[in-house]
Amino acid sequence: MKHSERPVVVFDSGLGGISVLKKLAAVMPNETFVYYGDSANAPYGPRDPREVCRLTVEGVARLEALHPKAIVIACNTATAAAQEELEKRYPQIPVIGIEPAVRRALQENPGGRILSLATAGTLASPRYQRQLGEVAELGKVVSVAAPGIVSYVEDGMRDHAGMMAYLGELFAPWQSVVFDGVVLGCTHFPFAAAEIRQALGYPVRLYEQSGAVAEETQRQLIELGTASKDGCAGKVTIMNSADEKTMLSFSWQLFSAVPGCI
Ligand code: DGL
Repeated sequence: MKHSERPVVVFDSGLGGISVLKKLAAVMPNETFVYYGDSANAPYGPRDPREVCRLTVEGVARLEALHPKAIVIACNTATAAAQEELEKRYPQIPVIGIEPAVRRALQENPGGRILSLATAGTLASPRYQRQLGEVAELGKVVSVAAPGIVSYVEDGMRDHAGMMAYLGELFAPWQSVVFDGVVLGCTHFPFAAAEIRQALGYPVRLYEQSGAVAEETQRQLIELGTASKDGCAGKVTIMNSADEKTMLSFSWQLFSAVPGCI
């Protein structure tokens, strides 16, 4: 099988990973991408990590027959719970995960105060806690779980007023604080970047990792010699476990929309 015929598989608990898919396709226009969103089982954030691991492994296994050349876990929660397991199962191909950009936010704002938004699963994970420990001396991090943003995106971003009320309550304890940066530590959140900015009410830099994930994926494909050559026509396919027409058409709408911060 030619390298160009093997896809890069991109997995998320639902629609959020489309923010990463978009960056991947922009950085590697010659590659074939197959996206699988597990909206039937979303949200992953409040689930037990063992269950998240099982769902992620099962989701990726559905695409095994395509002979992927790489797996991108476009979900911070699934990365924390399942990256090691996927690496064990697929030792012959790269497995690229995603983690909240807390380190980068603090490096760019030394001594600053960072608001880190993610799912409960990501925030409680040993991986995230380790990162916090490593950057503790660089500044202060306030970590907040924001499951309501995941539901807003999964529900087609229809209830704008409800989202603004939710964010108002979420940010209320920090009304008197001006953060130096806000980490979007869940791949659903870039789609609500405008709402997050509006609720905070002041200009602030948002940090997310889709660009870093796309560059790392490209780097590994080039290093392994499996990158598709110039001239190959790239392709994007989107699949969803919820398998409803509306879910797929909203997925394509999200793919065309440029998230507010990237
Ligand atoms: N998009 C996912 C993430 O980056 C998780 C959303 C969810 O299913 O709770 O963490």
